[in-house]
Amino acid sequence: MYDFDRVIDRSGTNAYKFDLRERYFGTNDVLPLWVADMDFAAPAAVQKAIVDRARHEVYGYTIRKEEFTNAIVNWCGTQHQWPINADWIEYSPGVVPALAFSILAFTNKGDGVIINTPVYPPFYSVIADNGRRVIKNSLINRDGRYEIDFNLLEEQASQETTKVFLLCSPHNPVGRVWTLDELQKIHEICSRHQVLVLADEIHSDLALFDHQHIPFASLHNEAAMNSIVFMAPSKTFNIAGFSTSYVVTANEKLLKAYRDTQNRLQLHMGHLFSGVALTSAYNEGRDWLKALKSYLEANILSLEAYLAKNLPELQFYRPEATYLTWIDFRKLGMTQKELKSFLVDKAKVGLNDGMSFGQEGRGFMRLNVASPRKVIEQALVQISEALR
Ligand SMILES: Cc1ncc(COP(=O)(O)O)c(C=O)c1O
Repeated sequence: MYDFDRVIDRSGTNAYKFDLRERYFGTNDVLPLWVADMDFAAPAAVQKAIVDRARHEVYGYTIRKEEFTNAIVNWCGTQHQWPINADWIEYSPGVVPALAFSILAFTNKGDGVIINTPVYPPFYSVIADNGRRVIKNSLINRDGRYEIDFNLLEEQASQETTKVFLLCSPHNPVGRVWTLDELQKIHEICSRHQVLVLADEIHSDLALFDHQHIPFASLHNEAAMNSIVFMAPSKTFNIAGFSTSYVVTANEKLLKAYRDTQNRLQLHMGHLFSGVALTSAYNEGRDWLKALKSYLEANILSLEAYLAKNLPELQFYRPEATYLTWIDFRKLGMTQKELKSFLVDKAKVGLNDGMSFGQEGRGFMRLNVASPRKVIEQALVQISEALR
């Protein structure tokens, strides 16, 4: 019913993943498995909603009505067992912009913001580019499964100038779905030291292999009052080209401060198609998402089996969420420069450089499995042939 095996030609669509290869890899001759979007068609219901709206020939200033917030309330309740109110929600032009607004709203210049590294690169820039201090809480790699260093977190949170913990949940690139126990520990430490939790949960709908994502603010009222959660259907339904993200907090003061900053920057209007895309995806995309997750799990299992059989030097920890896999190439004994050149020039595959996520990513690469299975298989064959 849903054909994720179909290879869709994205050329001529200004796709970042395809059309920026020359700039990022120095050549167009690589299979692109980098940028975090998918090579699959969006759900038919979303395509139809967009086309239907596009048929109306006036594209003026557009508001988002109750159907927008209702779709979100319903989604959070049914997908994440998180009962929220419509008036806890604010639209945002993107999760990364919303993180930046929040850093501006809740910290001052020179304040410290904790992040779990290695991590999605904008986590560094939203802090540093705004004159705040990045406090690196380096994740502990236990045989490929990453854990938070809670002793270090306690020490970092206790510093007078530490104001925010920017949590990536689920975590990109290490693929962890934080457990109830881990989230509870984060909450205890942060609330003890009056550190606000900003939880980027953009990958929350893509918890795989029976892992269950827990929205940080759903822990209990105290956590809800000391956090803002950032979500979007963009990763889930492959609609990142639209601005479909939003923030949720039960804390009126936090919501007002967030809104004030977004409004001050005049970025509250949003895009005509964002409401259409979000509403149709959340209201009609449930079955599609179920099928997508099965397909992604099968891609990950096939990658895992291939590596075990043909490339045992590459270490791989099965992600608990996301279509992003974090692969350890360190046993090949190459420098990062040699590894990059090996993958681009010899294997002709375009992966994300592990070091773009932080120093901990030395010897690692991130491979995006959200492509038709035969594309992933082709990339793996190219890597193993280049190595032999
Ligand atoms: C953790 C995380 N946050 C945010 C984003 C991007 O959010 P947006 O496109 O809404 O700014 C990504 C995209 O890869 C991501 O992985």
